[in-house]
Amino acid sequence: MDTVNPTDFRPDNVAPIRSDPPGTVKAMPSPTKLHHLHIFSDENYDKMVEFYQRLFNAEIVRVNPNGLTFITYDDHDHRVVIIKRPGAEKKPDNFIGVSHQAYCYSSLGELIYVYKRMKEWGYDPIWTVNHGNSTSFYYKDPDGNQVETMLDNFSPADTKEYKRHYQWSEEFSAMGNPTFDADKMVELYESGTPDSVLLDHTEVCNLIRDGKL
Ligand SMILES: [Fe+2]
Repeated sequence: MDTVNPTDFRPDNVAPIRSDPPGTVKAMPSPTKLHHLHIFSDENYDKMVEFYQRLFNAEIVRVNPNGLTFITYDDHDHRVVIIKRPGAEKKPDNFIGVSHQAYCYSSLGELIYVYKRMKEWGYDPIWTVNHGNSTSFYYKDPDGNQVETMLDNFSPADTKEYKRHYQWSEEFSAMGNPTFDADKMVELYESGTPDSVLLDHTEVCNLIRDGKL
């Protein structure tokens, strides 16, 4: 078996994305992105790792024997870490804290592909909904944490204005958050119904009313 010399993987120099000379940052910066989540687990540790590896089509970068698994889905070294906490207590049903994590995809086709694969693995969504601003499939991981896979229904700029001015207006509230049937969504998508219909809040409401979604 080849042995790895850990120091071979230590770069010679640090190489940050950018170095700002002192005094050049003159305004409060905002983060560039959400980098990672740490999730505590216990009895379901292996199932949790499997869930996130499957959901993200992920790479496991590092497993530490003391109960840390570093999982990533892109060029970053970790996006989710599952951390073993022996004897830790489960969250109560009615808790204060983070409600869910949401991951955006690039198309309805991708969301549907994820849904179909997750279903094959036995993970059924707990809620499939057109929020108006987004089309979302919600899951629970093996410990019960909610994970949303979603797609913005408009460009980011339009979605922001939709949220700011239209969502929760009287006209919107009259239609609400329609829950759709995921398998009917797959059928409509695969039979050629365009995304412009399947992502549209009003169209989705009408399709549900007619028993087609
Ligand atoms: Fe959400």
